[in-house]
Amino acid sequence: MTGARGRFISLEGGEGVGKSTQARRLADALRARGIDLVETREPGGSPGAEAIRGLLLQGEEERWTAEAEALLFAAARADHVARTIRPVLDQGRWVLSDRFLDSSVAYQGGAGKLGPDAIRALHAFGSGGFLPDRTLLLNLPAEAAAARAVQRDGHPGDRIGSRGADYHAAVAAAFRAISDAEPKRVRRVDASGSPGEVTDRLIMQLEDLL
Ligand code: TYD
Repeated sequence: MTGARGRFISLEGGEGVGKSTQARRLADALRARGIDLVETREPGGSPGAEAIRGLLLQGEEERWTAEAEALLFAAARADHVARTIRPVLDQGRWVLSDRFLDSSVAYQGGAGKLGPDAIRALHAFGSGGFLPDRTLLLNLPAEAAAARAVQRDGHPGDRIGSRGADYHAAVAAAFRAISDAEPKRVRRVDASGSPGEVTDRLIMQLEDLL
């Protein structure tokens, strides 16, 4: 692997699809295959971006305008890419990020109504349009996801997670549109069944990169 750039994988999905569990399990499965991997997350993943995370996820639901919220996510991502993701990939190591650009396209662009083009323009400016080598999108019917999210937290989540069912349905539709438009990069994976079954499905969608 010396000299080779590592692979950048992102994991995406709406609330309650079991994403955090799968991020851990997928990281373990890749390490078991001998891959040197760094786990990270958004919003966050670098000291500056973790500071912005607090601004985004805490406080009143109406704390930010839709535009300001999108800019804060893009700013956090720019720092995360420059300070964490690119340097790790340049060392030949892999990066697995729990959420990345597609979350902004789905939440702020789709559900938040700013549209995908505005979000991609911010990403072009902030992060040079940098994209994952592969994006794994966990997919569950909306009712099953909401039930799992409430079961996990006892409540449906933070400033953004607590938005209504319509918002989350729009997020799910926007994620589906992304995977339809970019089937090579973005792979939709059935998140139903046991955790082990889901991890096996995720690994299958990475076989060509292993
Ligand atoms: P987090 O606690 O990481 O939750 P999850 O387990 O759902 O990933 O909170 C991240 C929240 O921020 C989540 O509700 C999705 C939202 N989000 C956006 O709206 N846009 C983005 O670009 C990102 C990265 C996250």
